[in-house]
Amino acid sequence: MSESIIPVSEAVAKTALVDEAGYEEMYRKSVQDPVAFWGEQAKRIEWIKPFSKVKNTSFDPHNVSIKWFEDGTLNVCYNCVDRHAETKGDQPAIIWEGDDPSESLTITYRELKDHVSRFANVLKAHGVGRGDRVTIYLPMIPEAAYAMLACARIGAIHSVVFAGFSPDSLAGRVQDCDSKLIITADEGLRGGRTIPLKANTDAACEKSPSVETVVVVRRTGGDVDMKDGRDVWYHEVAENVSSSCPPVEMNAEDPLFILYTSGSTGSPKGVLHTSGGYLVYTSMTHQYVFDYKSGEIYWCTADVGWVTGHSYIVYGPLANGATTLMFEGVPTYPDASRHWQVIDKHDVAIYYTAPTAIRALMGAGDDHVTKTDRSSLRILGTVGEPINAAAWQWYYDVVGDGRCPIVDTWWQTETGGILITPLPGATALKPGSATKPFFGVQPAVVDANGNYLEGATEGNLVITDSWPGQMRTVYGDHDRFVQTYFSAYPGNYFSGDGCRRDEDGYYWITGRVDDVINVSGHRMGTAEIESALVAHSKVAEAAVVGYPHDLKGQGIYAYVTLMGGEEPTEELRKELVQWVRREIGPIASPDLIQFAPGLPKTRSGKIMRRILRKIAEDSFENLGDTSTLADPSVVDNLVEHRMNRA
Ligand code: WT7
Repeated sequence: MSESIIPVSEAVAKTALVDEAGYEEMYRKSVQDPVAFWGEQAKRIEWIKPFSKVKNTSFDPHNVSIKWFEDGTLNVCYNCVDRHAETKGDQPAIIWEGDDPSESLTITYRELKDHVSRFANVLKAHGVGRGDRVTIYLPMIPEAAYAMLACARIGAIHSVVFAGFSPDSLAGRVQDCDSKLIITADEGLRGGRTIPLKANTDAACEKSPSVETVVVVRRTGGDVDMKDGRDVWYHEVAENVSSSCPPVEMNAEDPLFILYTSGSTGSPKGVLHTSGGYLVYTSMTHQYVFDYKSGEIYWCTADVGWVTGHSYIVYGPLANGATTLMFEGVPTYPDASRHWQVIDKHDVAIYYTAPTAIRALMGAGDDHVTKTDRSSLRILGTVGEPINAAAWQWYYDVVGDGRCPIVDTWWQTETGGILITPLPGATALKPGSATKPFFGVQPAVVDANGNYLEGATEGNLVITDSWPGQMRTVYGDHDRFVQTYFSAYPGNYFSGDGCRRDEDGYYWITGRVDDVINVSGHRMGTAEIESALVAHSKVAEAAVVGYPHDLKGQGIYAYVTLMGGEEPTEELRKELVQWVRREIGPIASPDLIQFAPGLPKTRSGKIMRRILRKIAEDSFENLGDTSTLADPSVVDNLVEHRMNRA
């Protein structure tokens, strides 16, 4: 396989924070003496009481414990808002671009402080205090950022639930962390279509007795039911509170937020991030990875419902006093030029998006891009899934006019921030490779037995020591945390990803090696989709696997065995797709459903997913060893009736 290498751009290197030699030197120091390195880096945020201990971490499976800056105190919101309001109050903190191209707003740091303080006082007035959990179920409107920061200001723990999730998914997340208060909107607006957020919240509340208050932000003005004694309009209650609210002094290891994410088994896990280390890490990575320069307009197209939105729309950029653009809409509305028009409209210098969006926009044709200017762009970024070389090259040549380095950033909800990535002024690029570890990050490749593999190799990706942005636990279930991430390769954090390391020490992430699939950059547990399917009265059994999909990266392929006597009709197929949408959310809709009279099982009854994956991938000529199957004829039937991927 021939690989192209794009050398560091001289123009970018001239003003970049670090060059090639600078990276090597700083990386060496960061792993040789992490205590000195992170102790120094922690000065980028303001502490109330300074810490005396930098690092206290153990990956020993008998005693997993991760603490950074543990005796320091700070307030995350103060660091993201107040200190910039004092020094550059008139600078835009957030530029909000609405779904409708005629709607946008600029919020300065001074205004942000007012909005956030008012929001915090509304929460306090409804009994929310330190350590309480607040669920945020909002569209991409400035109030989502205000609400997150308001929680941080008063020491409450937020749990943002993506506005595309169903009432059941919302209820599960509300119950798991026992939230007393939900913040939502009347409706969301995306691509000209409304999403009934308040109605979804009402349905979720029926299953969630812990909820005492629902705060409703008016977005569209659509009709909603308001329940007396429980529901309040944000704009009404905000009028009765002051716009001044002192930030609360928090410990570095006090929780900042919970974010639910899918794993190979069970229900989504509440990933817990804490305050000091997370802020140091997201702020540092935001500055170095995007080579952020004061005054630049920075745009990350993610949704705040995912970790990318937490770390790289809200906390990282705002901690750095940056101007962060927040977009309510979708890349193809009103047409496929929208992103490039937003870049021109707001002079965006740094643009960070997902491969799935790049592939979709590439498919729409170059004209949509080339008719726009984009000369404000300096740096491009990608995240969420492996990017194929063709999409990378198109992004580089057409969107960036061959001028802008692409930072392909590998990380996870669990890692809090970017772990493997190029730095714009320091790293020669290889299309499809996330390249090299960030400062302080020590990746390693292991084989199935946990042996470290040296040099150019391929295997499973682990991280051998802690970094400040790392998750601390699974909310309410530390055993699950240990089991999921520290038991497979004792002494290491296991990412769940496979990877290749080439002769230059570059990392190439090859995708998940567990039962997690990545659909358009959204992480889905196959077990969750299976349990949604078997909850349908006509379904006896289901097995879900991923398969290669041109636009989505991976598509969802479901094998479904019906209850005796049920007919496998086209209608039922459609009904099951709708069912999963309603149970989990549109992002979980199966792309293909194959009705299977039986599933391939071992004699002990274990479903052989390897075989199902191969059939879904159309590589059924090479099914491997099938001798352990209880009934080998099942496979012939599956191959014969496999779904057409085209
Ligand atoms: C999984 C994590 C981190 C924010 C978005 C997703 C995949 C992420 C890359 C990349 C190849 C990537 C991995 C990872 N992934 N970034 N640059 N190249 N794969 O967060 O939902 O926690 O998913 O996304 O498989 O494990 P997430």
